[in-house]
Amino acid sequence: MKVKGRPTRTIWQASDGGAVEIIDQTKLPHVWEVARLVSLADAARAIKAMLVRGAPLIGATAGYGMWLAMREDSSDQGLSTAYETLYATRPTAVNLRWALDAARARLSLLPPSERPSAALRLAEEICEEDVAINRGIGTSGLPVIEALAAAKAKGEPVNILTHCNAGWLATVDWGTATAPIYMAHDAGIPVHVWVDETRPRNQGASLTAWELGNHGVLHTVIVDNAGGHYMQHGQVDMVITGTDRTTASGDVCNKIGTYLKALAAKDNGVPFYVGLPSPTIDWTIEDGVRDVPIEERSADEVKRMTGRLDDGSIASVLITPEDSPAANPAFDVTPARLITGLITERGIAEPSTEGLLALFPERRAA
Ligand code: MRU
Repeated sequence: MKVKGRPTRTIWQASDGGAVEIIDQTKLPHVWEVARLVSLADAARAIKAMLVRGAPLIGATAGYGMWLAMREDSSDQGLSTAYETLYATRPTAVNLRWALDAARARLSLLPPSERPSAALRLAEEICEEDVAINRGIGTSGLPVIEALAAAKAKGEPVNILTHCNAGWLATVDWGTATAPIYMAHDAGIPVHVWVDETRPRNQGASLTAWELGNHGVLHTVIVDNAGGHYMQHGQVDMVITGTDRTTASGDVCNKIGTYLKALAAKDNGVPFYVGLPSPTIDWTIEDGVRDVPIEERSADEVKRMTGRLDDGSIASVLITPEDSPAANPAFDVTPARLITGLITERGIAEPSTEGLLALFPERRAA
C-alpha cells in the first residue's frame, strides 16, 4: 500500500542488511516512526508491546526474529531458546506458532553455520507468501462487493463495517478484511467503511482510519456500540473482519467485540464475512470458545486512553476511578453459525469443517 504516495510494507530488511525495520504502530496515527530490530529480544519486545500486531504480521515478525536469533546463537540450544522466547510473546494469533514451527522444521535439519541465512530466506518467503495470500483474499472477496454495488443506485456507496485493524498494517501488505475493500476502491466501485474504534487499544480509530485515509477510501469512525444501530437503519451492507485463529470447524477468534457485531448482523440480515488467510486456520482445534487461548491484557489499557493534545504532545489520561479494577480480554470467538462466508485466498468457504476442507482438500489426509 502507499504512504504519502510511496509503496510501503510493514516489515522489511534494513538497507544495510544488518537489521529488520518495522513501522512502530504504537505511535500511529500521530507519529510515523520506523523502529530497527537487531536482536531476538528486540523482535520479541516488538510483538509483545504491539509495535507490530495483527495475526499475519506477528507471524512475519517471528520469522525475522528467528533470523536475528540465529545470528546471535545458531546452536540447537539457540534454536530452542528463540522458539520459546517468541512463542511466549502473544497467545492468540496462531500465525505465530505457524511461522515458528516452519522455522524450526527447516532450520533443525541444517548445520548451525547455515541456519542464519536459511532463516532469513524463510522470513522473506513468509512475507512474500503473506502478500500473495492477501491479494488472493482481495480477488476472492471483490465479487461480493461488486454484487452489493450492482444492487445500488449508481454512485451510491457500498457501506462496509469493519472491526479492529485487519488492514495492511496487520499484515505485510493489503490486509485481510481490507483487501477486497482496496480492490473495490481501486476498481472504481464507491465504498464507504464504518470503522469501529475498537476499544481498548483503538486499532480501528488509530490504524484502520489512518490507512484507509492514506489510500483515499471514504470512511467514518464510530464508537464500538454504534454498529448495531446503523445495521437496524439499513446503513450497513456487509461486515468484514479479520481473524487471529479460525478453528477447523470455522469458528473465528478475533478482536474483542467481533462476536457482538456478528450477533447484530445476524439479527439484521446483514452478511458477515471474515478475511481468512490459510495460515490463520488452526486445524488442530474444533471448538473456538473452548479451545482458543484468549489473551488477557493489562487493566491499564481499559483504564487509560492515549491521544494527542492540542499542543501536539502525546498524553495518556485516566478515565476510570483510580481504584476501580478492570478486566481486559483481548479477543472473543464468533461461532461459525453467525458467519456468512470465510474469504480465503482460494475462494469463499462455507464456515464449517466441510466448507474449509472443500477449499483445502490436502487437509483431509492430514
Ligand atoms: O491485538 P491485535 O491488534 O494484534 O489484534 C488484531 C486483530 O484482531 C485482527 O483483526 C486480526 O489479527 C486479523 S489481522 C489481518
